[in-house]
Amino acid sequence: MLSKRLSGIEESATIKMGHIAKKLQEEGKEVLNFSLGEPDFKTPEHICAAAKKALDLGYTHYTSSAGIEELREEIAKKIREENKVDASVENVIVTPGAKQAIYELMMSVLDEGDEVILLDPAWVTFESAVKMAGGEPKWVKRVDESVKYESLESAASGNTKMVIINSPNNPAGYVLGDSELKEIAEFAVEHDLLVLSDEIYEKIIYGRRHVSIASFDDMKERTVIINGFSKTYAMTGWRIGYAVAPPEIMKGMLKIQQHSVTCASSISQFAALDAMRGSQECVKEMADEFKRRRDVIVKRLNEIGLRCLNPEGAFYAFINTSNHGNDVEFTERLLKEAYIVVTSGSAFGLAGKDYVRFSFAASMEHILEGMERIEKKIQPGG
Ligand SMILES: Cc1ncc(COP(=O)(O)O)c(C=O)c1O
Repeated sequence: MLSKRLSGIEESATIKMGHIAKKLQEEGKEVLNFSLGEPDFKTPEHICAAAKKALDLGYTHYTSSAGIEELREEIAKKIREENKVDASVENVIVTPGAKQAIYELMMSVLDEGDEVILLDPAWVTFESAVKMAGGEPKWVKRVDESVKYESLESAASGNTKMVIINSPNNPAGYVLGDSELKEIAEFAVEHDLLVLSDEIYEKIIYGRRHVSIASFDDMKERTVIINGFSKTYAMTGWRIGYAVAPPEIMKGMLKIQQHSVTCASSISQFAALDAMRGSQECVKEMADEFKRRRDVIVKRLNEIGLRCLNPEGAFYAFINTSNHGNDVEFTERLLKEAYIVVTSGSAFGLAGKDYVRFSFAASMEHILEGMERIEKKIQPGG
């Protein structure tokens, strides 16, 4: 009954782990869930107030498909000022979540058999979105060592159409530095490729500087920046994201948006506008709290004897399990014996088979308790 398009596309591994956690909780187990990628903070009050105001003012109808003009203007301004990329409203499409923007992009630019280079490991949705649009993912390893021009070159063919990067990275927590971005940019220019640059974690960054690849020479016209409000403003449920793309691609995405979801929620768009225009103190507070948690986790993991890549951004610890079985065995053991839910690294590509992803978008109390349970489990006889 199902289309060929869906063959080889797995249920989202992260969402699946969330369901398992919920089921165990319903059975009365004291589950600690470290599998989800959503900030545990409430959406800041002034943003909620803006949504209530939008309701009172009757902004409850379809908006223009690309999004309300003021929000698109505000996004273009942010991209110009913060990301140093010359953007205007014609470049901006507001979408129901960044995920939808990614899907629309793939459907707009990929033809059957087009190849897309993904840095391995990569967030689960990239591979699925490429496949759903008929594209073929090609993996280039990027765990704890910078990606090189030559390794990108060896994954390229005459069918390569795009490279996907995501910095700060989910799940590995790295931030791509200037020289690495330069190498990727040179490769894209040399091979005339598009770049999808997912920058959704740009504000959750620890002592590093976020740089958009679109700000490099000759990159603006071949880069689609994906970003959104879910992580920066703890607005996952509002479903509001955006893409900044060359006008031709933006128009392609717009057609898909018009014929699929029409537009992002009007109320969420007004809330997002307030998020951008209002004080950014809330963003800093949340990022500071993530940093505190990051520091505690890295310290505790070292004490326990588990290696983890030091997260430079986003809110995930990518923990090496190679001394304790593979990722799936370790995940199952934590779940069954300690009621701890993490995500197996292999959900994110080939390089993840010796890793699990531990999301620290959870309270400090839960993190400390989780670390204690993990410590007990990995001790001999534990
Ligand atoms: C790298 C990355 N991009 C995009 C998203 C999804 O964002 P949104 O909630 O805006 O669809 C996620 C969520 O986990 C993510 O990790």
